[in-house]
Amino acid sequence: MSEPISFEPPRGMRDFYPEDMVWRNRVFDAWRQASVAHGFQPYDACVVENLALLQRKSGEEVSEQIYHFEDKSGRKLALRPEMTPTLARMIAARQGQMTFPVKWFTVAQCFRYERMTRGRKREHYQWNMDIVGEDSVSAEAELLAAAAAGLSAMGMPDSGYRIHVNNRALLAELLASSGIDAQHHAAVFLALDKRGKISDAEITALLETEGLDTEAVRKTFDLLAVQTLDQAAALAAPDSVAVKALRDLFALAEIYGIADRLVFDMSVIRGLAYYTGIVFEAFDAERKFRAIFGGGRYDSLLTAIGGAPTPAVGLGFGDVVIVEVLKDLLGDTAATEKRGVTVGYMFPEQRDAATRLARDLREREPVSLMLAPQKPKQFFARASASSSADAIFIGPDDVTRGTAKRKNLATREETDIWILERADSKQET
Ligand code: HAM
Repeated sequence: MSEPISFEPPRGMRDFYPEDMVWRNRVFDAWRQASVAHGFQPYDACVVENLALLQRKSGEEVSEQIYHFEDKSGRKLALRPEMTPTLARMIAARQGQMTFPVKWFTVAQCFRYERMTRGRKREHYQWNMDIVGEDSVSAEAELLAAAAAGLSAMGMPDSGYRIHVNNRALLAELLASSGIDAQHHAAVFLALDKRGKISDAEITALLETEGLDTEAVRKTFDLLAVQTLDQAAALAAPDSVAVKALRDLFALAEIYGIADRLVFDMSVIRGLAYYTGIVFEAFDAERKFRAIFGGGRYDSLLTAIGGAPTPAVGLGFGDVVIVEVLKDLLGDTAATEKRGVTVGYMFPEQRDAATRLARDLREREPVSLMLAPQKPKQFFARASASSSADAIFIGPDDVTRGTAKRKNLATREETDIWILERADSKQET
């Protein structure tokens, strides 16, 4: 006999049962609502992408985690691990015809062969918002305000999270003034991003492989000890563009009303090689979970894939961590909203009356119709466990009278309703 089939999905992949979909929909609805409210247009692409577009030889974790395969004609393809290269490809393909800046959003399923830890799966949905063609920090501010609106729409209190902001251009400036050549910066960023995931000794080894001597390694680590933007500014040139961009962003954040959640944090570097400027990562206020979202400015990616030089900034916000954070803050069932009514009946003779009533009520509210007769006890137990707010149970006497009781399952309050004619045309209280 062949092996029994497992009921588990493949490792790292998720099944979404109805109780999981409640959370997923809450998050997706908030993402879409915030995107539209901030003037982002939707776009989409296939989850299968050309492998060559996704592979970068930079020692990034994400490019080592790609699920890839060959199709029957030998094309090298992959399941996308992120959306940004695809977005860049789509923009590059129509660059001549587009009016910039463009503001696009999508909710994209992404695949990464990750080591499975809390908050990390091998498949996740990621809200992406990107602004392409705008080089001022107005773009960063707009993005962060939209992300904050998304969080608020899903029930996240403002005090529940912080957005940690840094600027790779500032780090580059400070590394250069410590005598570390620009050619090493990208590798230094990727090494420093591993802080907390691997030991400082291992990071030191990575930096030494890159050609940094003991003094340069020490100076690199010293930079991470900087606590405030004022301290960083004191180390930078008086006319530092990178410091000015950060100060501008913090000032704009005041106007957007999100400044209370923004913090300067020199340790935020990001693990993707393409970022060139401001970078950010949001965490729950207690830092119990992984990053809620992350992003930044990537002004060279369009050119790297063969497009015309175009500034860009964007973010990716996954559905895994945020649901863990929201359940922790609000409770496991907080997303469950009781709405509409469950309709049931006692004997086969009341089936038609119940069906007619369900048909009429469905014109204005969700109705769950029981598809077989039931005893009242059984019916009310099932209705209470469902997502309905109310229940209507039809017995033989109700049909004779032409009325039934609509019961609020939480308060047990009852209201008489007509059941033989259109339910919405006559209603008694
Ligand atoms: P990222 O930091 O690799 O950035 O991912 C962004 C977010 O996606 C993370 O903060 C997390 O919420 C979620 N995420 C990533 N990997 C996983 C995983 N294995 N399991 C669960 N959630 C995950 C990017 O992907 C950039 N492309 C974002 C971006 C868009 N930058 C500019 N535009």
